[in-house]
Amino acid sequence: MDVRETIERRMSVRAYLPTGVPDGLIRELLTMASRAPSGGNVQPWKVYVVNGSSRDEIVKLARERGPEEPEYPIYPERLWEPYRTNRFKLGEAMYATMGIPREDKEARFRWFARNQEFFGASAGLFCFVDRGMNKPQWSDLGMFLQTFMLLAVDAGLDTCAQESWSLYPRTVSEFCNAPEELMLFCGMAIGYRDDNHPVNTLRSERVPVDEFATWV
Ligand SMILES: Cc1cc2nc3c(=O)[nH]c(=O)nc-3n(C[C@H](O)[C@H](O)[C@H](O)COP(=O)(O)O)c2cc1C
Repeated sequence: MDVRETIERRMSVRAYLPTGVPDGLIRELLTMASRAPSGGNVQPWKVYVVNGSSRDEIVKLARERGPEEPEYPIYPERLWEPYRTNRFKLGEAMYATMGIPREDKEARFRWFARNQEFFGASAGLFCFVDRGMNKPQWSDLGMFLQTFMLLAVDAGLDTCAQESWSLYPRTVSEFCNAPEELMLFCGMAIGYRDDNHPVNTLRSERVPVDEFATWV
């Protein structure tokens, strides 16, 4: 697939069919995604894959245990403009696809909890980083993850990166048997999209180029 078309087609898919994803395919995509650049070629990504029964087990465990103290704050405490509005618009647009109004906190909460079911995807991954790493290495994780997500689209799969898993650091680390020196950054749902679910009609907005780029 053409790279532009792949970028256009990639979106966060938040409803999946129960169709299984072959481990071999995930392995192939991870191998290829590791061609992502990283400062000094440090390659700081550490990935734990859950698929089929292991996916079911972590979903069950997360539900039983509930959220924990996160190890890092996902957003700054008070997000400012224009970021605050960007985030707000995304949330409102997403809930609008499903007809969930602002007042219906319970329905919104229930939807949020679907994160910890990988939105129904039969596979997922957890991306960790060594605690000793600095900000640049965290940005390397993003390069790796985006490369993986594009390759997934190319392979007929869909994904949703999920910071919400950072609310389950101990549960996930214990389950994956990840060493103490690793910190959970995020999870990711991997699977085949449910085209009949309204949430997948969401097309997130972007700010125009002149609002984020300056020619000096
Ligand atoms: C690192 C990262 C973490 C994310 N965490 C979540 C999450 O926990 N739950 C969720 O529904 N979407 C999550 N998203 C998806 C973003 O909301 C989404 O990328 C953004 O709204 C742009 O939409 P698009 O991916 O469809 O283009 C995450 C995205 C990234 C890059």
